[in-house]
Amino acid sequence: MQRKALYDICGEILKNSGNEDWEFDTLCIFQDILHDKHPLFRPTEEVSAEDEENIRQLTERRSSGYPLQYLLGEWEFYGYPFRLSEDVLIPRPDTETLIENVLEICRRQGMRSPKIADLCSGSGCIAITLKKELPLAEVCAVELSDGALDIIKENASLNDADIRIIKGDVLKKETADMFRDMDIIVSNPPYVTAKEMAELQQEVRYEPEMALYGGEDGLDFYRTMTALWKNSLADGGRLLYEYGDGQQNDVEKILNDNDFENITLSRDLAGIFRTASAQKRR
Ligand SMILES: C[S@@+](CC[C@H](N)C(=O)[O-])C[C@H]1O[C@@H](n2cnc3c(N)ncnc32)[C@H](O)[C@@H]1O
Repeated sequence: MQRKALYDICGEILKNSGNEDWEFDTLCIFQDILHDKHPLFRPTEEVSAEDEENIRQLTERRSSGYPLQYLLGEWEFYGYPFRLSEDVLIPRPDTETLIENVLEICRRQGMRSPKIADLCSGSGCIAITLKKELPLAEVCAVELSDGALDIIKENASLNDADIRIIKGDVLKKETADMFRDMDIIVSNPPYVTAKEMAELQQEVRYEPEMALYGGEDGLDFYRTMTALWKNSLADGGRLLYEYGDGQQNDVEKILNDNDFENITLSRDLAGIFRTASAQKRR
């Protein structure tokens, strides 16, 4: 079958499944299978039987609500490629705000080789992006899930990023005690509440519960990590968090209660409060 004819069939399947991004998703599937960034530049080219079968299979899977990012197995974050599996959270554009916050702090303070820890690293998107943007930084990724740790290693190698990768429970003192005099600790921890877990959108249900659930009120990680990891920061060091929509006042209070100063809340590209940055007193 010719490319354009197959494209129209697959587009129709995705459109009929209620997918609002059906054009984008169809294009991504074609790009992935045909290894061609512009698959429709040659609309009458014949698609091999094997490629057609693969395209149809991905289209069917996508039309059942399976996330496009897992389907393709790779996604971009801050312009860098990241391999993905169901063991890791799909990197979100919102999280790029956290990257911008860290880079801004480093720029303002003239830090060229900061010591950075990324807690709850998932795919490694934060740790690896920071290492790429700050090549002289010492960056360490901390994660508990074995499946995610494998993906972080793969992504570090894919991006040629020389970072340390540590298996550890960020809620345990013994993990925090392995770190001293950090300039920056950054984290996008699980923050979904019990109520929200029960009402998750279908696509999010494919993501690991361990990457989502933040306890009854979604704040367990902020409470425990802030108290534990404060001791791992250098005086004047910064702690930066991503949090969920509406959690900004709770996270700010946790930081205040732990005697942090210069607390700044930032909004993401959609205008929603998304990150907090706080400084350990000197
Ligand atoms: C919200 S995801 C964030 C992933 C990644 N940092 C990102 O921004 O895309 C949270 C991550 O925390 C990890 N995690 C959950 N509990 C943990 C714990 N106690 N210690 C270390 N990592 C944990 C999960 O496996 C998951 O990869």
